[in-house]
Amino acid sequence: MSNWDVFLAPYKQAVEELKIKLKGIREQYQMSSKHTPIEFVTGRVKPISSILDKAKRKNIPLDCLQDEMQDLAGVRIVCQFVEDIETIVQLIRSRSDFEIIEERDYIMDKKPSGYRSYHLVLWYPVQTIVGEKKILVELQVRTLAMNFWATIEHSLNYKYSGEIPEDVKDRLQRAAEAAFKLDEEMSQIRDEVKEAQRIIIRKQEEQGKT
Ligand code: GTP
Ligand code: MG
Repeated sequence: MSNWDVFLAPYKQAVEELKIKLKGIREQYQMSSKHTPIEFVTGRVKPISSILDKAKRKNIPLDCLQDEMQDLAGVRIVCQFVEDIETIVQLIRSRSDFEIIEERDYIMDKKPSGYRSYHLVLWYPVQTIVGEKKILVELQVRTLAMNFWATIEHSLNYKYSGEIPEDVKDRLQRAAEAAFKLDEEMSQIRDEVKEAQRIIIRKQEEQGKT
């Protein structure tokens, strides 16, 4: 690859644009005083050293990167509740400013490592001075608990160069189960809060009548 800066420029552009768009959604929810399904958004362009590592590992020729490496541009949406993920996925599906080419549900189907998240791969059009260029973007949607787990597991993978010892793996599996339980508990608590709010509103309405 002769000039990485030039090659990666549209990826950087796409990540920045998507972050702004998704933060806009978050702000709209906040103004509407509805629960926002987006806690925070992050994004990054894959570092060159990681691109080279992955290309080698997956036997991807460098001149095929744009079609074969889906996560050169990566955007992550983190939410409070598992239910928010569905809300976000619906919202993403309803948009017309990009095309979804793949969805991978690692929540229904968690990975052997214990990893859970919802992935979407997009063809995202970037406007350049030589016309429109469609690039691949990987969008990950996950809860705070899923994100906590994935972040820790990622650090451990780095520490052990991908060869996490069996006992640590077992502990990670248990931590993944605990994170799953936490998501379930939080959903139930949220249902309780919603029910409580409905009761309060009903009481206020009744008091208004007398
Ligand atoms: P890579 O895993 O990226 O090589 O590509 P893939 O084609 O297997 O896609 P996959 O959907 O499995 O993973 C894409 C991305 O999801 C990864 O780059 C990670 O960011 C994340 N991911 C997938 N599996 C795991 C996992 O076990 N642990 C953590 N921490 N992240 C994962
Ligand atoms: Mg993988």
